[in-house]
Formats: sequence, C-alpha cells, structure tokens
Amino acid sequence: MSAITVHDKQFVPFIAEDTILHKIKELGAELNKDYEGKKPLFIAILNGSFMFASDLFKEVTIDAEICFIKLASYKGTHSTGHVITAIGLDIDITGRHVVILEDIVDTGKTLHSFLPQLQNQQPASLKIAVLLHKPEAQQFPLPIDYVCITIANKFVLGFGLDYDGLGRNIREIYQISE
Ligand code: IMP
Repeated sequence: MSAITVHDKQFVPFIAEDTILHKIKELGAELNKDYEGKKPLFIAILNGSFMFASDLFKEVTIDAEICFIKLASYKGTHSTGHVITAIGLDIDITGRHVVILEDIVDTGKTLHSFLPQLQNQQPASLKIAVLLHKPEAQQFPLPIDYVCITIANKFVLGFGLDYDGLGRNIREIYQISE
C-alpha cells in the first residue's frame, strides 16, 4: 500500500484490511455471547457504517435483526437548538435490545444528540458499537460499549468513511498525512 491523494489531501496507509476484519470478527463473537437469546436489533447509521455493519452482521450467528437509518441534522428554534432526526426507523424498538452501529465517534455530538430520542422509546437496553473511536477528539459524553479500534485524533478515510464524498470504497483505512 502506498500514499494516495483524495481531492486535495494526501493519505497514508493506516489500518490494513485483515486487521479491521479481525477486530470485527472479535466484536461479532462478543455480541454473540452478550446477546444470546435476546434477539437484538442492530441500528446501523448511514452512510459511513454500511461496510462495518455488513462485515459485522456476517459474524453474528444468533437470531438478530438489522435496520439502517440516516440521521438528518438541522437547526431548530432557540429552545430546541441543534435537532437530529432519524430517517427510516420503521421498527418499534420498545422493549428491544438495541445496538447502534456507527463508523466512528469523533466529537460524539451526533450520537449524544440522537440517543435520548431512542431512550424515549424505552428499549430494553441500548448500547453503542463503533468501528473507530477517537477519544482525544470526544467532547460530548457518550457511553461507548464496544470499540473495534481506538485511534488518534487524525482524519481517516476508507472502509466506508469518506472525505467529501470520496474514499468510502477503499478496503483499508488511510490516515491524513501531515
Ligand atoms: P461526531 O458527531 O463528531 O462524533 O462525528 C460523527 C461523524 O463524523 C461520523 O459518523 C463520520 O461520518 C464523521 N467523521 C468524524 N471523523 C471522521 C474521520 O476521521 N473521517 C471520516 N469521517 C469522519
């Protein structure tokens, strides 16, 4: 693997595909153990998590469901501030064991704002599983229950993650070169 250019930026190889798949396999095994008999509902957040969700779900061998949602963010009124709504959540999550699948937690703002909306629907349990976590970048409190790979606070792309629309189809994860 060598450096690549996407738009105006250079990226260098960071995490190899087999390392990513190995970490996902380990997470799958953990979920199979933790959710045995609970028929969990995985909620994958588009766009970035599609590749992670697909590879993870192939490792899930217990009875489980998956659905894909998109989060739309808009500015509400003064009292509501920044509002995040879910598009495509057509399954009733009341009483369900829910696991959110997200590509990366950076500042944590997206999930921090969205979580209460799911909690309002009273799932039996609500946990978060992420492919990548940047703890140094996190500004909003968030319980992250499952992390595949912890990384430094640098922009990455590949394996579903994009830089301004490009790079999602790259099999490995690249890191911005500075
Ligand atoms: P947060 O709300 O700051 O945690 O950001 C979450 C979203 O920002 C992720 O779901 C990604 O879509 C995007 N994001 C954050 N960091 C990166 C990165 O390093 N590469 C690509 N996308 C990122």
